[in-house]
Amino acid sequence: MKVLIVGGGGREHAIAVKCSESKLVDKLYAAPGNAGIAKLAECVDISVMDADKLVAFAKEKDIDLTIIGPDDPLVAGVADAFTAAGLRVFGPAKNAAIIEGSKAFSKDLMKKYNIPSAAYEVFDNANAALSYLETAKMPIVLKADGLALGKGVLICNNLDEAKAGVKTLMLDKQFGAAGDKIVIEEFMTGREVSVLCFCDGTHIKPMTSAQDHKRAKDGDKGLNTGGMGTFSPSPFYTEDIDKFCKEKIYQPTMDAMKAEGRDFTGILFCGLMLTEDGPKVLEYNARFGDPEAQVVLPRMINDIIEVMEACIDGKLDEIDLQFEDNAAVCVILASDGYPEHYDKGFVISGLDTFDDKDGYYVFHAGTKLTDKGIVTNGGRVLGVTAKGEDLFKARANAYEATKWIDFENKYMRNDIGKAIDEQ
Ligand code: AMP
Ligand code: GLY
Repeated sequence: MKVLIVGGGGREHAIAVKCSESKLVDKLYAAPGNAGIAKLAECVDISVMDADKLVAFAKEKDIDLTIIGPDDPLVAGVADAFTAAGLRVFGPAKNAAIIEGSKAFSKDLMKKYNIPSAAYEVFDNANAALSYLETAKMPIVLKADGLALGKGVLICNNLDEAKAGVKTLMLDKQFGAAGDKIVIEEFMTGREVSVLCFCDGTHIKPMTSAQDHKRAKDGDKGLNTGGMGTFSPSPFYTEDIDKFCKEKIYQPTMDAMKAEGRDFTGILFCGLMLTEDGPKVLEYNARFGDPEAQVVLPRMINDIIEVMEACIDGKLDEIDLQFEDNAAVCVILASDGYPEHYDKGFVISGLDTFDDKDGYYVFHAGTKLTDKGIVTNGGRVLGVTAKGEDLFKARANAYEATKWIDFENKYMRNDIGKAIDEQ
């Protein structure tokens, strides 16, 4: 089979590694890919948002399956363009990807179908939002309705912060049109867990759990980022919690989307908060998490193409989804200063060290191949993942492997997976 991966981050590199291990794949392409993916796939310089060019390329190369990685093209309907052209694509249609594209949509869906989540109100008028806040309980959470690179969520400790947040989102439009509408949500406390699920429109199969560290600095300090590291599985996601989520969250979400005429095919990412009152949905995403994919996929035993094909064909119930009985930790190597200002263009050394090491991976996120070699080209540069027989060993292995890589202004958190010490 010929397979095209749309995207060029660490998540797509993790997908590419898994595809390259598939017995069904003869040739792999990526658009636009990156310097790491280029070792496994032929990369073509087409934007993830350019549906016409992507479809034309897939036709020209006789691509059998296209996998769309990022949220933006899914929410914009790039999967629909493939389907309309009679091409097979893995990723939800636009009318289903709205579960990530609009927080108001997902909150209304959960309310209508009794899926556990925080209490909320939706506002498209700043004055109404401000007067609602006057009597609301603090802390409180403000969320831009639309996509905002994972940064459109503001946790506000008091009324002043909340009012300033409404101004940031709705009046100053820091996230553009994404803030035309906002969700104001009850603040929840508990452990966070990410569970990524394969979906075929009717059936849903959760993968092993993972946890992300979103803040830039150790001890969950600093600004929110796209994610500074992950571990899998989460020791807090017990069998009882899994059973509850399957019955009350995952399958009900599939059924709700079907009932709305929005059959969801692809990856449904359930961001959960394990509260005292039980698990509740923080957010849905319509794709693999980044960097959750970098710890979940290396532990997956199945052939990823077989699973994705089963999703497209509505036969996911025939798949026995299996994960290794071990653990993985991913530490993001970032450019110092991320997520604000940072320099790039520094030569990266040590990448080859990973070539002959089983159970170790270096996923490229912000890198570029130049005549000087591979250089840094973004805030999140690389994801260093290692497996181990348990989380402690996986963490020790991952931090050891971070030492193999060097570049000027290399920055990482030193406490990825540390929550497990409290166990
Ligand atoms: P989201 O993009 O919706 O996952 O939100 C980003 C982060 O904000 C989450 O990972 C949580 O840490 C936090 N968050 C979102 N919603 C809530 C909530 N209702 N209560 C507490 N924290 C929240
Ligand atoms: N790591 C969080 C996300 O991919 O949305």
